[in-house]
Amino acid sequence: MSLLLRPAQTTDCHPTHRWHVDPTVRAVSRIKAPLDYPDHCRWFWGILDDPTVRVSILELDGEPIGMVRVDCLEMSWVVDAEHRGKGYGTEMVRLALLLEGPHVYAVIGDGNAASRRVAEKAGVEVRRLVD
Ligand SMILES: CC(C)(COP(=O)(O)OP(=O)(O)OC[C@H]1O[C@@H](n2cnc3c(N)ncnc32)[C@H](O)[C@@H]1OP(=O)(O)O)[C@@H](O)C(=O)NCCC(=O)NCCS
Repeated sequence: MSLLLRPAQTTDCHPTHRWHVDPTVRAVSRIKAPLDYPDHCRWFWGILDDPTVRVSILELDGEPIGMVRVDCLEMSWVVDAEHRGKGYGTEMVRLALLLEGPHVYAVIGDGNAASRRVAEKAGVEVRRLVD
């Protein structure tokens, strides 16, 4: 088994859209309505070109299974539903912290226990979600 965190590329539009429309992910996102595929690709390609945003993809044996995004200093993450509960989320965030340094933070709702646990285990500061 090999895990690799690599920079996102334009072809990651497809797996990231699958993760984006996952109801679990929509429920914890600040924007609740899912984007359709063309709009998602426009948004995704836009952030790849944005110098204030860094997007990385976690690969398991060459298959994309997760994404971590750092927008200015705010970090957010997602793991493919089929691969959750195996430690990949924590490992992905730990790897991203090595690249980003210790000053990043995450904004996580009180009800998102899995993400709070990932942040705690990886050592990411959690800030409160303000509506
Ligand atoms: C949060 C997320 C990335 C976690 O990915 P993962 O690969 O399952 O994470 P891990 O396996 O590394 O660890 C999850 C930890 O949370 C715990 N956990 C999972 N569900 C939980 C729940 N409902 N309540 C409490 N803890 C929970 C696990 O037990 C584990 O902790 P442990 O190792 O001490 O047992 C994944 O659930 C996800 O993509 N969620 C939707 C997107 C999201 O919430 N993003 C956050 C925005 S910042």
